Amino acid sequence: MSQKPASEPSKMEKLVALCKRRGFIFPSSEIYGGFNGFWDFGPAGAELKRNIREAWWNDVVRRRADVVGLDGTIITHPRVWEASGHTTAFHDPMVDCKKCKGRWRADQLPETKCPEGGSHEYTEARQFNLMFQTHAGPVIDEASLCYLRPETAQVIFAQFLNVLNSSRQKVPFGIAQIGKAFRNEINPRNYIFRSREFEQMELEFFIKPGTDAEWHRYWVEARLAWYESIGLPRDALSLHEYPKSDLAHYASACVDVMYAFPFGVQELEGIAARGNFDLSQHQKFSGKKMEYFDDETKERYVPHVVEPSAGVDRIALALLCDAFMEEEVADEKGKREVRSVMRFAPRIAPVKVAVFPLLRNKPALVAKAREVFEGLLPHFAVEWDDRGNIGKRYRYQDEQGTPWCVTVDFDTLGENGPALADTVTLRDRDTMRQERILISEIIPLLASKLR
Ligand code: GAP
Repeated sequence: MSQKPASEPSKMEKLVALCKRRGFIFPSSEIYGGFNGFWDFGPAGAELKRNIREAWWNDVVRRRADVVGLDGTIITHPRVWEASGHTTAFHDPMVDCKKCKGRWRADQLPETKCPEGGSHEYTEARQFNLMFQTHAGPVIDEASLCYLRPETAQVIFAQFLNVLNSSRQKVPFGIAQIGKAFRNEINPRNYIFRSREFEQMELEFFIKPGTDAEWHRYWVEARLAWYESIGLPRDALSLHEYPKSDLAHYASACVDVMYAFPFGVQELEGIAARGNFDLSQHQKFSGKKMEYFDDETKERYVPHVVEPSAGVDRIALALLCDAFMEEEVADEKGKREVRSVMRFAPRIAPVKVAVFPLLRNKPALVAKAREVFEGLLPHFAVEWDDRGNIGKRYRYQDEQGTPWCVTVDFDTLGENGPALADTVTLRDRDTMRQERILISEIIPLLASKLR
């Protein structure tokens, strides 16, 4: 069996087709021609994203004593965005072509010619605010203007005091949130990489002033290790450290975790040491003291923060790109064929195990397979499949990235002697090898493989 990553120039096209075919990602409102910058996640994509969120929440929140969660609103008091600086400074430079009226980010100009002929003729760059606006309440005027949050982070800062006062946490401690964010990107691009609606997983880790460098280092290492734990290989990941001259005036460090996508090395997550800028701004704009009192040292201070901020959709795209392989294999009759396979880490795979009856027109086989399927349902994300032949079912599950397939056959029914009764074949996605195991062994075996 020869194995290679799918060839580079067409890898994204093949991946986009597979994602649609296997229910990972659909263009939003496709029946109306799609909607630029918006994507829907199908059955496999919804499970994939859920597994990413769960891996993050388990590792960053549940398994730590020093982080608690928050689930805040998408629309907040507009003063939140004045305090954070988003209403005045969350801009991208935009230019228009005077001939074709196309619009682009000034730092991402198209390489194509103007459809009106010749080169594009650009206007001067002007600033475009990326926040989506809406109105709260029945009167549409300046007073009811509000925004869809462009990041989840500010909702955490705005609730800092409530979380501090209601939880048992002491600095250093973190508040984590997963949720939707919205940015009216001028040029959404690279499939779901830059979208207008996406999801963030953000942690604000509050620390004592002066400990910024050590906590920043700690979180960079922890986050890099997390990406490896969900199956992204170390050699496809890298760190980009911002030079001091590129940092905001209040930040002391910023490192991006990068992934080598087929369209270039791009950011998955930013980890910034932001000083106490955000809490101080909210203190100034709200008039509420954002201080922490250390009852051991009797010190009072506005905590500093280290912020690891990741995007669920970008991580999903990195996992999809990384998992996608094309391999030349022999079919049952020895004929060479190319199989597409998504080699997700089992922890991340949308479906963990698929169950098939060998033939769907034999009621005894179907009844036994159904019994096995229902026995697995409470334990794993499991799928039933009785369409086509076994070879086709394997190919389907390979493209969905299902790590294991269980087939119930005549041996299971004891028709070929009692020795094989109540055994099934367990087929491994990556090696394509099949082993015979007892039905009672399936749950402990898969549980141990998933651990
Ligand atoms: N609170 C800090 C913050 O929002 P950011 O670098 O603007 O920082 C953090 O965003 C992460 O959110 C990015 O690393 C990326 O994973 C994700 N993200 C940002 N804009 C995105 C977009 N338009 N589409 C998809 N993901 C995006």
